[in-house]
Amino acid sequence: MRRPMVAGNWKMHGTRASADALAQGVRQLAIPDSVEVAVLPPFLHVERVLEVLADSPIAVGAQNCAKEPWQGALTGEVSAAQLADAGCKLVLIGHSERRQLFGESDELLSRKFIAAQSHGLVPILCVGETLEQRQAGRTLEVVSEQLGSIIHELGIGAFFNAVIAYEPVWAIGTGLTATPAQAQAVHAAIRAQLAGESAEVAQGMRILYGGSVKATNAAELFGMADIDGGLIGGASLNADEFGAICRAAGC
Ligand code: 13P
Repeated sequence: MRRPMVAGNWKMHGTRASADALAQGVRQLAIPDSVEVAVLPPFLHVERVLEVLADSPIAVGAQNCAKEPWQGALTGEVSAAQLADAGCKLVLIGHSERRQLFGESDELLSRKFIAAQSHGLVPILCVGETLEQRQAGRTLEVVSEQLGSIIHELGIGAFFNAVIAYEPVWAIGTGLTATPAQAQAVHAAIRAQLAGESAEVAQGMRILYGGSVKATNAAELFGMADIDGGLIGGASLNADEFGAICRAAGC
């Protein structure tokens, strides 16, 4: 039995005051123990959110980390060691905004993935196709390549302690959600790919869906056999809405 996970990716939103208020709101949510919940604030707000959520079951993570695991002359970067030292538990690797807007390659992402794990952070590897790729019928090929390149670089063993998020690029922030059947088809393909390497990894892997998840569509998505929770953008900026999504994962 996989424990569902819901993670809120706050992206580059908020001020110190609004991040504080959102963390306070999240802290007060009634969430079933069966669901693992995390929030991923901007780097600048991580420490304050950690303070607010101290002694709560809600984990805090980051949206990115440097490829260099420790420290170094990498202006503007934040390392996995620094995130772990602050108290972070997870980190997003390869969000489509990083891949598309910052040109992050699979090769770079495999280095970030291992950097995160080397400091005890759980990487949440994001994969997903663009609208053009979907329309060309290439969805499964694209997702399989993104996942396959990390497996190829690091070996399947690296996936014992990781999470995968399927986020179709065309569904992110657009209000367009993959139908439960569309999402399930990709999640099942991801699990089958993992199973080709290790049945144990495939069975235990949490595969989250992301892309315009809201309180109104969460239960239907999370009800699919291979969807183990969600990676939530816009809707995670409202504590009540986020809470409703977390509860939907516990049904
Ligand atoms: P939205 O929920 O705003 O579509 O964003 C999804 C996402 O990118 C989460 O990482």
